Amino acid sequence: MSEATCCRTCHRPFPRGVARFVRPWLPRPYEVLMLLGMTGSGKSFLFKQWLAMLMGANRAVFVLDVGDEYAATGNNRGGTLQLGPLRTRLTVPEFLAQWRKSSAFIRDPRAAVAIVPTVTDAGEALAEHIRPVLRVLYGRGRCVIGFDELQKYGAWLESDLYRAAGELGKDGVTPFFLSQYPGGVPEIVRKQVSTCLCADMGKASDRRMLASDFGEDFGRSLQDLPARTFHIGFSRSQFASIPTR
Ligand SMILES: Nc1ncnc2c1ncn2[C@@H]1O[C@H](COP(=O)(O)OP(=O)(O)OP(=O)(O)O)[C@@H](O)[C@H]1O
Ligand SMILES: [Mg+2]
Repeated sequence: MSEATCCRTCHRPFPRGVARFVRPWLPRPYEVLMLLGMTGSGKSFLFKQWLAMLMGANRAVFVLDVGDEYAATGNNRGGTLQLGPLRTRLTVPEFLAQWRKSSAFIRDPRAAVAIVPTVTDAGEALAEHIRPVLRVLYGRGRCVIGFDELQKYGAWLESDLYRAAGELGKDGVTPFFLSQYPGGVPEIVRKQVSTCLCADMGKASDRRMLASDFGEDFGRSLQDLPARTFHIGFSRSQFASIPTR
């Protein structure tokens, strides 16, 4: 529990019983995480810091890297975007070709791979492009899988995403679902999320959706949040003991 009584960013007092989280944490077994916020809110930036910590803890990490921004060799948009820490960057066809030759790079306990789609249009074609990669990662188990920009393909991969969220915890898979709005994460998947980090949600319908999964107080707290601030909602109390300062 935090000793601080008000937010250092917005100076609003914390309600009683609210903890202040100052850094990412190592997800618990079966923890399913979702990061939400409009474009530019800092979801990917936050997830990159989180990945660096997970890599430091020797977790294998894979990211469906729709924006080509999670590996040091990705596209930094002319220096305007801070790239992520992943050691390997493979396009989806390169990933599948390399896997057919040998799965050793996937089984590597220190794997840190950005998997970059070559289909750029959002929708079903992107989902079908990604599907075989998920089968490979799900077969591996014991890893973190980041699904960035899920609003672009999530609706067409509902059953595969549901496996990651609802069934593969026992195989050690920890999913992170990133989306600009809650509806970008299919409902049956969202219902499996245990931990939701959310930046300002301008639309009342989005806040209502989150209130129904993470509580009315959480939903209300998402209005008029300062920039770079995420509130965290939990749907399962056993995941609540997370390091704070
Ligand atoms: N806490 C932060 N400190 C400094 N820069 C940040 C921070 N958060 C985000 N940024 C910068 O702001 C820009 C937008 O952040 P980011 O790419 O993480 O947004 P996003 O929520 O992932 O948006 P999108 O949905 O479009 O992918 C980036 O250039 C990023 O480096
Ligand atoms: Mg992003």
